[in-house]
Amino acid sequence: MKWFYTLLFLTIANSDSNAYLHSSTIKRIFEATSVSIPRTDGAGRSGGAGQAVDSGVLRQPGATALPPPAFVTSSSSPPPSPPSSNDKPYDITILGGTLGIVLAASLQSRGLSVCVVERGLVQGREQDWNIGSNELEELKTVLSEEQIQSIPFIDYKETRVAFNSDEAHMLPGVLNRGISPKSLISAIRSNFESNGGVIHESTAVQNVTITPSAAVVRSDDLTISSKLVVDCMGNGSPISKQIRGDEVANGVCIVVGTQAEGFKPEYMGADLIVSDDDIVELEQNAGERRQYFWESFPNINGKRTTYLFTYLDDDSRRDGVESVWNDYVARLPSYMKENHDGFGAGKSVEECMDDGSFKPVKSFTGVFKTFKNSPIQMQHDRIVSVGDASGVQSPLSFGGFGAMLRHLERYSDALTEAIEENVSHKDDLNLMNGYLPNQACTWMFQKSMSVPMDDPRDAVFINRLMRNNYKGMMSSEELVWKSFNQDVVKPGPLLKVITMATIIDPLNIPTLLKVVGPKELTEWMGHVFMMALYNWLDASLVSPPDKGGIEGWRSRRQRELWKYGSGRDYHI
Ligand SMILES: Cc1cc2nc3c(=O)[nH]c(=O)nc-3n(C[C@H](O)[C@H](O)[C@H](O)COP(=O)(O)OP(=O)(O)OC[C@H]3O[C@@H](n4cnc5c(N)ncnc54)[C@H](O)[C@@H]3O)c2cc1C
Ligand SMILES: *[C@@H]1O[C@H](CO)[C@@H](O)[C@H](O)[C@H]1NC(C)=O
Ligand SMILES: *[C@@H]1O[C@H](CO)[C@@H](O)[C@H](O)[C@H]1NC(C)=O
Repeated sequence: MKWFYTLLFLTIANSDSNAYLHSSTIKRIFEATSVSIPRTDGAGRSGGAGQAVDSGVLRQPGATALPPPAFVTSSSSPPPSPPSSNDKPYDITILGGTLGIVLAASLQSRGLSVCVVERGLVQGREQDWNIGSNELEELKTVLSEEQIQSIPFIDYKETRVAFNSDEAHMLPGVLNRGISPKSLISAIRSNFESNGGVIHESTAVQNVTITPSAAVVRSDDLTISSKLVVDCMGNGSPISKQIRGDEVANGVCIVVGTQAEGFKPEYMGADLIVSDDDIVELEQNAGERRQYFWESFPNINGKRTTYLFTYLDDDSRRDGVESVWNDYVARLPSYMKENHDGFGAGKSVEECMDDGSFKPVKSFTGVFKTFKNSPIQMQHDRIVSVGDASGVQSPLSFGGFGAMLRHLERYSDALTEAIEENVSHKDDLNLMNGYLPNQACTWMFQKSMSVPMDDPRDAVFINRLMRNNYKGMMSSEELVWKSFNQDVVKPGPLLKVITMATIIDPLNIPTLLKVVGPKELTEWMGHVFMMALYNWLDASLVSPPDKGGIEGWRSRRQRELWKYGSGRDYHI
């Protein structure tokens, strides 16, 4: 929790610069990548998650913030002045224009009138998003075939997975493509605007008032009325914050990294998840241990991205984000020794920055807090959450763009029909973000991959588990390994992988059960049972007579939950 509050007021500018061995190199990376210091509230940045570093998150001060005023409130009377900036209410106002613009265009293509309000610019980040080449199909409703073809992309030569061992697996067709969010968002934006869609940029939403007849969105200069509001404000959404309150996150994924020049140009491979060490102890924080993973891929512009990430619990005794940066700088040379001449010759990041052989051009810091109680349920009518704000992806994934595409059709159907049927009650709209047992199942994986404070588990435990799982997965059919690696859990493949992993290494199972604990295990078995039930319901029920009205709306949402909650939406 501590790291997060730092976002509000601390900056590395006023911090003790000798706290970490590599603090000065980290500062140099930030300077080289024009990360503004101080940048404490995220205001003025745009392009979405990870685009700029909130350098404030680097330090944990142990300070607490005042609770912000309620962002969403209800009012029983229609709002008085100032009058709305739009004469006729929009069907839907979308707050946040990263994934928000994708949904906006999709809703517009179904005939709704949509307005997007974005604090920064609707432009998408420059850093590539990786995605499976098949997943882009979902964009057919918002882009023409020609436009999809014209989005710059790069296909990786191979996508590798390895766990501190020479035994690597190659995953053809999984997250094998990098695309340019900037081009993608700009194409979608231009379609949206030329079809009459309204975008308000550089407009930070300040609050939302729910009245009996409309939702009223206010910024400093605008008042916008619409029938429904969609929260697409990402991981730091003030609406999610209002709902989560002081709830301690169940998991945290921290990712840091750079896009840089200097790697061997012939190296075109990607690493999806690779560890080059077992669980390590943090020198600067006794009792804290972490399993680090790497991800790396070539970029469209010829540079290379390297991310270091780790799964944690939200324990206030943990060291902050700067310690992850410190380990990134310390460990990158060894990770990339075969793909970079300077690192291969044993030089450090600092030395390679000095001689110009390692030139970072962008840097990224992501702190993803995840909650078991997901996707998020709204406390007010007329509002629904989509994208990172909703927590619809698993706690293991930071591929939220891919997750959004997977659900785009379902969200678009639900919202279009909600407008037709005048659905506005929170209990109904919350069905769009109802329980997904297959996503709930992934909590056990998160739990088994993060090491609690003072936990004595064997340093090799996580790598051993991952090796066994991948061995089991990769010797199964394509559907099994593809679905897992694209963050979709299905009952058949799950059973298969568990069985195989047990056969391969039965002795690791008692340790796993101990690490996970009886409470989590019981919960998990409940989710697995529900997933199997959802699978059966979706597979065996013939279409019910299509009820009209609100009843029909609810029953269609329930059926979608059966389908998506058992991974039956997923096809290879
Ligand atoms: C380091 C890193 C690497 C990633 N790599 C990948 C990847 O390879 N593939 C992939 O699929 N995904 C990846 N992701 C995830 C992906 O970037 C996110 O899932 C995606 O950006 C989520 O979009 P969003 O619109 O939900 O939220 P965000 O991207 O966070 O966007 C929220 C938007 O809301 C705006 N906003 C916030 N507050 C307000 C306000 N008060 N008023 C108006 N607007 C507001 C923000 O300016 C922003 O534009 C990565 C994320 C990170 C951090
Ligand atoms: C909502 O935001 C507007 C614009 O900043 C402000 O004038 C108004 O007082 C706020 N209303 C509430 C209830 O906070
Ligand atoms: C929805 O509301 C509008 C406007 O109030 C009304 O004209 C329409 O008939 C309603 N539709 C349904 C299905 O109730």
